[in-house]
Amino acid sequence: MPRVPAKSSAGRSSAEKPPRPDPRALLSWYDRSRRDLPWRAAPGERADPYSVWLSEIMLQQTTVEAVKPYFHAFLARWPSVAALAAAPLEEVMKAWAGLGYYARARNLHACAQQVAFERGGIFPREEGDLLSLPGVGPYTAAAVAAIAFDAPCVAVDGNVERVVARLFAIDRPIREAKRDLREQAQTLLPAARSGDFTQALMDLGATVCTPRAPRCDLCPLAPACAAALRGETERFPVKAQKLDKPLRRGAAFVVTSGGAALLRTRPPRGLLGGMSEFPSTPFRVDFDPSRARAHAPMAARWKELPGAVEHVFTHFSLRLTIFAATLPAPPPYIENGRWTPLARLSEEGLPTLMRKVAIRAGLIVE
Ligand code: ADE
Ligand code: SF4
Repeated sequence: MPRVPAKSSAGRSSAEKPPRPDPRALLSWYDRSRRDLPWRAAPGERADPYSVWLSEIMLQQTTVEAVKPYFHAFLARWPSVAALAAAPLEEVMKAWAGLGYYARARNLHACAQQVAFERGGIFPREEGDLLSLPGVGPYTAAAVAAIAFDAPCVAVDGNVERVVARLFAIDRPIREAKRDLREQAQTLLPAARSGDFTQALMDLGATVCTPRAPRCDLCPLAPACAAALRGETERFPVKAQKLDKPLRRGAAFVVTSGGAALLRTRPPRGLLGGMSEFPSTPFRVDFDPSRARAHAPMAARWKELPGAVEHVFTHFSLRLTIFAATLPAPPPYIENGRWTPLARLSEEGLPTLMRKVAIRAGLIVE
């Protein structure tokens, strides 16, 4: 039996095609309502490519609010791509500490060096050339090309995917519809102002076309939005089946001696590559906490602290058991280790997971 459309308001069948969304309506909304963000140029001006690139790398998988202070700090300390290229990698990694996804910082530095030393300090303007730079994927290439150079590209992030899925009532989960969403977004591009257009879509998604309870009454695209016309905004984007993240476990060993704590540097590649850590076991699904002490960096009177530290990474959740011990001062020599005075721990550039460990062990306060 044919299904009756869920909500088909007076005389409008849900099969009726909505009009094309009008990019000019979106641009004039942007001129009135755009967010004031530190990496944006003043209205009518072209943004500095270095600022655009730096902000877009930081904004990959990180919220605008989390990025703001880091963006200011980086720009104050390294005001140009040449300055960033000349900085030691460890300083860049330390300044990145807390933002997460540390491969971004390593690639940021490699990219700055390529632009500064092989391209005379000039960022390429073409999406394809941008794509060849370290750490620059399709999203970032499109964003930099559009925002810094007004190339006819749309950068499709999670916010934009949601807006486009609703505009065109795309009834597959985002994960399966990525290419379609990108193509549909591209068809909306106006003849000029593509940088503003792409940022307008981002802002619309962040402030109006929100995941829950979108404010269609404020939306410049509402007259052409298939989801809104059907009264089904919250059905889009359609949900994919949830996959639970696997739980990995491990242990970290916090040892202090003479007012200093033992830290190590993790191997350069892989999870938290090149970042500082309290000596830790590998993080594994089949880790056996009752055998954790076998991984301790030295013999000592290890005490398991109550309450594990939990942290969520992209592909797994982690539950870390913490062991603490104190050695008689002065601190002994430990291979691959360094004794860091407790007063300087907060300058160490600890990744968030290890900050949580330090807090749990009472070495720093939140
Ligand atoms: N997210 C990623 N890039 C952005 C930008 N340029 N403006 C606002 N949000 C963003
Ligand atoms: Fe999103 Fe509503 Fe605008 Fe459609 S009309 S794009 S659902 S805010």
